[in-house]
Amino acid sequence: MQRTPERTNIAGMSISRLVCGLWQVADIEKSGETIDPERGADALQAYTQAGFDTFDMADHYGSAEIITGRLLSRYPTNKERPLAFTKWCPEPGPMTAEIVRKGVQERLDRLGVEKVDLLQFHWWTFEHPAWLDALHEMARLKEEGLIGAIGVTNFDAAHLRVALSDGVPLATNQVSFSLVDRRAAGELSELCRQKGVRLLAYGTLCGGFLSDKWLGKTEPTEIADWSRSKYKRFIDVAGGWEPFQRILAAASEIGRKHGVSLSNVASRWVLEHEAVAATIIGARLGENEHRDDNLKVFGFTLDSDDHARLEAAFAATKPIPGDCGDEYRKPPYLTASGDLSHHLDAIPSVFKAVPVPGKPGRSRVSSGSVWEPIAGFSRAVRVKDTIRVSGTTATHGGDRCVAPGDVGAQATYILDKIAASITALGGKLDDVVRTRVYLKDAAQWEPASRAHGRVFGEVLPANTMLQAGDLIGDYEVEIEAEAVVD
Ligand SMILES: NC(=O)c1ccc[n+]([C@@H]2O[C@H](COP(=O)([O-])OP(=O)(O)OC[C@H]3O[C@@H](n4cnc5c(N)ncnc54)[C@H](OP(=O)(O)O)[C@@H]3O)[C@@H](O)[C@H]2O)c1
Repeated sequence: MQRTPERTNIAGMSISRLVCGLWQVADIEKSGETIDPERGADALQAYTQAGFDTFDMADHYGSAEIITGRLLSRYPTNKERPLAFTKWCPEPGPMTAEIVRKGVQERLDRLGVEKVDLLQFHWWTFEHPAWLDALHEMARLKEEGLIGAIGVTNFDAAHLRVALSDGVPLATNQVSFSLVDRRAAGELSELCRQKGVRLLAYGTLCGGFLSDKWLGKTEPTEIADWSRSKYKRFIDVAGGWEPFQRILAAASEIGRKHGVSLSNVASRWVLEHEAVAATIIGARLGENEHRDDNLKVFGFTLDSDDHARLEAAFAATKPIPGDCGDEYRKPPYLTASGDLSHHLDAIPSVFKAVPVPGKPGRSRVSSGSVWEPIAGFSRAVRVKDTIRVSGTTATHGGDRCVAPGDVGAQATYILDKIAASITALGGKLDDVVRTRVYLKDAAQWEPASRAHGRVFGEVLPANTMLQAGDLIGDYEVEIEAEAVVD
């Protein structure tokens, strides 16, 4: 049997392909009583000694960063010490250099280190464009030596592409990926393959539901821990308990064939995807340990019969809607609470609607483009029930073109800005009845169409796409929209 987990390289770091996840610390501490940091560090040290020397945590995982900091302080040199990956999940708002530095410094202080090995960034709404400011500032702090590598978490393929095409040096994207949630195997994996970004997969065991313990069991009605509450929502959206039991039965049969556990099959299936660097398996410190069993993941591979058996079980399930991370950004929220109440009070509107003086029933928004006041136009205007959004380009921070040369990425950025304008005026993307897409180069119709389809695939507004001959500046595409609010 393999004695320690397989390893892989991310941004020059050798990491365990089974990362020890510490969200469960927050669940253990939810009564308000925190884990004693030394006892917690002892538990992490036992994982380290067994070769599970890479830890994943976040700013909001209870005292996980403090406990890990205590562990790291036990290692005299940086060379030998375990790796600590953490996340920064700020509330949506302006991401000035000061705010970003403060967020990063807090991670450094809690971990007691001079450099965060991997800092992963989460953003709650892409309608708010400051996520790009945060990532560019993190890149500057990386150059300064405060961050080893930059990752994101819960980014879909479209926004990962925007970040990469805008020059952000991303090493990883941490997303949900399991036998139940197979979204990451699609467009996101393909983009990662092209761009060399590695996936860190979580939810691989659906909080423990993907284990022999749940095979043939009746559906639970009350769930105490956050992780299982979250993944029960995934199971429900994927078709419910009966189709889930078919996945368990298939994985169990495969496990018996290879002499491994059902959980091993679930982890192996994710790890065998080329884009996946590692799976993150949650650890309930001081409660359950599954180290010996999890090591067996590296002692077998899935063959074509195994894949066929799993595919047959998948056929009875429904795909999880949308792309990776949508579960945090739109209904159905597949979070522990079923909404964002554990994380945020509210998502602020990005733009501010103002009434047009002397014109009852009319309001407008500006998006901050330097040209709006000079040329005399609004980003969008609402007249009674109708919202008209101006031709919009991928202009960031007033005057910068986002993702030069990448039509699809620019279209994604533009559609977020259009969504933010419509939201500010009291409408929704679902209300859009008409769009026009102007391309600099007609040959680039496909990435623009795909970006449009990702947003409007179910809304299906009337649409026109045309070549505009030339667009001003580095812009590849410009989009306008009209919505009718019912
Ligand atoms: N970026 C994000 O938004 C995000 C979101 C969620 C999680 N995460 C990360 O991912 C980590 C993983 O957590 P998760 O919530 O997704 O849970 P998970 O890893 O899918 O499930 C963990 C649970 O599975 C059970 N388990 C582990 N190994 C097993 C084995 N060999 N056999 C049977 N059961 C086994 C244990 O539960 P029992 O022993 O209690 O049965 C354990 O608590 C988190 O700690 C966090 O670091 C990130």
